[in-house]
Amino acid sequence: MTKRVITFGTFDVFHVGHINILERAKEQGGYLIVGVSSDELNFAKKSRYPIYAQKDRIKILESLKFVDEVFVEESLELKPEYIQKYRADVLVMGDDWAGKFDGMKNLCDVLYLPRTPSISTTEIIEVVKSL
Ligand code: CTP
Repeated sequence: MTKRVITFGTFDVFHVGHINILERAKEQGGYLIVGVSSDELNFAKKSRYPIYAQKDRIKILESLKFVDEVFVEESLELKPEYIQKYRADVLVMGDDWAGKFDGMKNLCDVLYLPRTPSISTTEIIEVVKSL
């Protein structure tokens, strides 16, 4: 039976670590919903705007064969509301978030998948800056 999987992230400067987690998230249920952080939420979290604008990050995610639905995550505090609104059966996050979403276990299954080693948006930005 198809399960509805939800995951969240900024997905800025899209890279293979993003592909890997989305591909594996899709495998957990068959229908994948991605909450992409708004530009404003990212600014609030990291004191900088993403390199890629929200509409472009959405377009990239929507064009992937293993992503079924994309919405904008406006606030970190609204995770329970998003899980319910999108009727998610499983929440998947990278294991950099291990334990942080255990509070959602009364709403859906919560699964942390290993991150792809040696790549991140922050690292790519640092490398490019140093060139
Ligand atoms: N992710 C992953 N492996 C990586 C990088 C990211 O599995 N090497 C996962 C994260 O765990 C998260 C999702 O991809 O579930 C979106 O992460 P995001 O924060 O947008 O990407 P990062 O590259 O981690 O960005 P930053 O360096 O700005 O934190």
